[in-house]
Amino acid sequence: MSDPSGTIETGGPPHARFEGKGREHPDQTAPAPAPAPAPAPAPAPAPAPAPAPIIEAHGLTFAYGPHSAPAVRDLDLAVHSGDHLAIVGPSGVGKSTLAALLCGLLRPDSGEVTYSGTAAAALRPRKLAHHRVLVPQGGYVFTGTVRDNLSYLNPGVGDPEIAHAATQLGADALIDRLGGLDATIQPRNLSAGERQLLALARAYLSPAPAAILDEATCHLDPAAEERAELAFAERGTLIVIAHRPTSALRAARVLVLDAGTATLGDRDLLQDVSPLFRELLAHKAGVSAVAPGIDQTGSPSTPAQSSGRQAGDFAEPAAVRSTG
Ligand SMILES: Nc1ncnc2c1ncn2[C@@H]1O[C@H](COP(=O)(O)OP(=O)(O)O)[C@@H](O)[C@H]1O
Ligand SMILES: [Mg+2]
Repeated sequence: MSDPSGTIETGGPPHARFEGKGREHPDQTAPAPAPAPAPAPAPAPAPAPAPAPIIEAHGLTFAYGPHSAPAVRDLDLAVHSGDHLAIVGPSGVGKSTLAALLCGLLRPDSGEVTYSGTAAAALRPRKLAHHRVLVPQGGYVFTGTVRDNLSYLNPGVGDPEIAHAATQLGADALIDRLGGLDATIQPRNLSAGERQLLALARAYLSPAPAAILDEATCHLDPAAEERAELAFAERGTLIVIAHRPTSALRAARVLVLDAGTATLGDRDLLQDVSPLFRELLAHKAGVSAVAPGIDQTGSPSTPAQSSGRQAGDFAEPAAVRSTG
């Protein structure tokens, strides 16, 4: 290869070109100097330490009262940046309690939660908000403009980012219908699904790299739920407390909580070791014949219309609770 000045490289290391100049006039009488010993190769740099998990739980135990059985018992969990984890289990098994513990909203009785190595217990709420955002089932919306609602966790966010979030989540049609970002909304005039979509968009726009959705899409139809989950998975780290089996099957790893046990693994492992997960898959196969675009009660649904439990819901007792 030639350099821009037109000189021809020798093919050796860069300094060889300067040494070569001396060889143009060798001293024929002098013994040839012993070749300089080759410099010892530099030791390979030590591999950079793996980054600490973005959220980590150690020995997490929590009971709601001194005489209550722990809702979460001695749980270890490591969630790395970019992970997509689902948490599944029967109603009352401790999923929401675990979500609140992972978010630093409940203090464990023992054990600890860390964010990239920093103890959650040491962080004030404002700092906690820079690590994780929780979207509960309720879809909290307040009276105010759409923009105020969506930018609440990130007041500096601009309209283009809001528009991007809305598009990713499939909330753009809803925002148009409400009258745009400047329209004032009254929570009571919105359906449960509409409130959930707005709450999801608010969380999507938050600065926190990790999002925890606690059945936060239960009033969306399955297609809208899938779109929202995929948007959050693309956005960063995602923990989904699954409302429907499909949420668990989309995740790379699943934590199965079942009658005092916690089993973590990918789909193949869980199929081998978790009776509850096998039931989940069997249950999914049983409902997958439902036509797309129709919710599993058989009625046409939109995010705004769909509400409540449906035949394919994960928390539907018959298929899931029998092992609990
Ligand atoms: N605020 C609370 N006070 C007392 N017990 C609670 C409270 N919240 C939940 N529990 C109990 O803790 C257990 C776990 O509840 P939860 O975490 O909500 O389960 P899940 O989200 O899996 O349905 C249940 O037995 C529930 O009744
Ligand atoms: Mg719950």
